Amino acid sequence: MAGATQTDRDCYCRIFREHRGCTQTGAPNATTSGSCQGPILTEMLILSCSSKLQLLEATLRRLLPETLQVHSVVMNINRGNPAGHEVLVDTWPEFKAILTRPRREVASDDADFYTNTYAAFYRDLGANRALLGSAVNWGQAFCILGLQNGVYEATRDIAKAKAVQLEASRFFTYLHPDPSTMPEIRLDPSVRLSSLDVSHADLLNETWAFGGNDNSRMYLANLIRHFPSVCLLDAAGRPVSWIITDPFGIMTHGYTLLQHRGCGYIQVLLNVMAKQMHTWGYPSYCHVAVDNYPVQRLQERQGFQCQPNWCHFILHNAALHRTPTLTPSPATGTAPA
Ligand SMILES: CC(C)(COP(=O)(O)OP(=O)(O)OC[C@H]1O[C@@H](n2cnc3c(N)ncnc32)[C@H](O)[C@@H]1OP(=O)(O)O)[C@@H](O)C(=O)NCCC(=O)NCCS
Repeated sequence: MAGATQTDRDCYCRIFREHRGCTQTGAPNATTSGSCQGPILTEMLILSCSSKLQLLEATLRRLLPETLQVHSVVMNINRGNPAGHEVLVDTWPEFKAILTRPRREVASDDADFYTNTYAAFYRDLGANRALLGSAVNWGQAFCILGLQNGVYEATRDIAKAKAVQLEASRFFTYLHPDPSTMPEIRLDPSVRLSSLDVSHADLLNETWAFGGNDNSRMYLANLIRHFPSVCLLDAAGRPVSWIITDPFGIMTHGYTLLQHRGCGYIQVLLNVMAKQMHTWGYPSYCHVAVDNYPVQRLQERQGFQCQPNWCHFILHNAALHRTPTLTPSPATGTAPA
């Protein structure tokens, strides 16, 4: 490992094999062109040392907003959140690419693309390609998120070489520069502010456009168990509106039951959740489908800023997902050309 001391080496729990350019597995060469022009060496390391992870968090914070997702995963690990992700870097400390991925024991179901989620950030596109080619389990159904366009192109090229089916959607990213400045919103007295409980997982699963199956139910239950959420309960203690956060620190799964829409509930919850995330030191951000104009207007009214880059959600091997969904397929997002 070029430039690394013995102490550095001791900080990594495992050193990956060298990745050599274009292999028979179909990973493109680690050059920006992605063509196969001979072997190059790339070391991929699982970062497990707490001081290095703290340093990485500080570096990623300086590179916000492009690092949003990987930064929040590292924050979660540094705060002991047992969400089951690990961080792979390419030649620390001068990292060129980072990939966060679910730990092996967590990603045990090959068909579960809800849990098998990765986030990518790179400074060098070639290093990103090498990392994606070597450190991802391409035999599984999985999803990669990234705010840089190269993340999509790299995974598309590798998927093509491996004959892996791919579905990509892109979303706007809304980030609040300073949620502490958001004005307080008065709460309707007919509802009570609370957080979600695992017993609410079925309700979330039934109402989520991408859910309605066993994997999604388990995934939602895990989110509720491990990550902050907010909801409004009616007089009988049933949730009528909610927002939850995920391993990438995204404020997501915003939903209001049909009969309670238009009362400003999601506005209140977005306000509360954004402030909480900010208080805990996390960036306050979410992704919105390109055709979800009411939510885009809502974000802008609350002072969120739309980021220039698309966020890509890239789903691989979705056909491995065996359980039929109970809900109609969603029409959110648009596929990149
Ligand atoms: C989007 C959603 C969460 C809004 O919840 P809500 O509690 O009604 O939100 P609010 O009352 O704060 O209103 C927010 C905006 O939604 C609009 N809205 C309210 N009821 C609506 C309805 N029945 N259909 C469509 N839009 C509606 C409001 O008009 C408002 O936009 P505007 O102020 O620019 O007119 C809700 O419509 C929903 O659950 N939709 C399906 C899931 C979804 O799209 N989630 C967002 C993922 S980013």
